[in-house]
Amino acid sequence: MYTYKTENFNNILKEKIDYIEEVISDYLPREEGEQKVIFEAMNYSVLGGGKRIRPMLMMETFLSFGGKDMDIVHSFMMAIEFIHSYSLVHDDLPAMDNDEYRRGKETTHVKFGETIGILAGDGLLNYAFETATGAYFKTADSQYKDRIIESLQVLGKKSGIYGMIGGQVIDTCILEGQTITDQNKKKLVEELNHMYTLKTGALIQASMMIGAILAGASKEEVALVEEMATNIGLAFQIQDDVLDVTSTTEQLGKPVLSDQRNEKITYVSLLGLDKAKEEVAYYSKKSLDIYKQLGISNPFLYDLINMLINRDK
Ligand code: IPE
Ligand code: IPE
Ligand code: MG
Ligand code: MG
Ligand code: MG
Repeated sequence: MYTYKTENFNNILKEKIDYIEEVISDYLPREEGEQKVIFEAMNYSVLGGGKRIRPMLMMETFLSFGGKDMDIVHSFMMAIEFIHSYSLVHDDLPAMDNDEYRRGKETTHVKFGETIGILAGDGLLNYAFETATGAYFKTADSQYKDRIIESLQVLGKKSGIYGMIGGQVIDTCILEGQTITDQNKKKLVEELNHMYTLKTGALIQASMMIGAILAGASKEEVALVEEMATNIGLAFQIQDDVLDVTSTTEQLGKPVLSDQRNEKITYVSLLGLDKAKEEVAYYSKKSLDIYKQLGISNPFLYDLINMLINRDK
């Protein structure tokens, strides 16, 4: 399935991560003033690790469709990474997955206490929209302004109740605690797919769709990009389930066996490790087929999709 790998992929990847991290440090709030502690907690949550795949997928999709104005896409790349970081801060809270390590360090609520953990997440979410809206004031071009408004709507929808938050609700309130039987297995796989498409797929969809929209892609192209991202999201989350049982805390930077501890239904608990790995391969292939159908030429993006799906952390 995997046909080629850009020469020096790992070097290019490192350069791209460095580039994104430089932009992040330009956009983060300064740690000053009476409410300084929340800025510290927000910056702690965003900095120091993370694969930066969402801003990277956005940037690469933007470039694939001929996007030029980096300053505009930067606002949205930051917004999606802030939303992703907030989702992790809240996901780790005692009321949710109750995890104490993330990206090789203490989780935000362990480091700063639960109150600041909750508020730092809230702060990042609002700051994300403040940042994304900033793009509107960076251009006088009315066609561009329309694309920015459309992107803002995608960002709100995909990170909210019809997207990531909706998925977290199904994960924690609907699926948790259900028992697997031979009779309900098929239905549970369907529910799991729906939940993954929302909790993980939606932010990946938003990243890639916004990259395409800002670059001026057609409605049909944006719809295909959404479908490609759905498949990346599914493969990415199933691989996250696989790593939860096959990897180590050192390698992942977050606790392994967290799903078992929380008695989560995952692809691994439902179908077993081998079948879960097959599903990763299946959804990866689907996403790469759509990439080809789109007719874009960005070998780095192609390799990036492959890397995400076959990653070991
Ligand atoms: C973790 O996302 C949460 C999932 C959706 C599986 P990432 O694996 O992208 O986390 P970081 O940003 O690299 O830490
Ligand atoms: C989290 O899924 C997805 C989010 C929306 C935050 P997980 O709970 O599996 O993510 P990890 O394993 O803690 O990173
Ligand atoms: Mg979770
Ligand atoms: Mg978790
Ligand atoms: Mg997980």
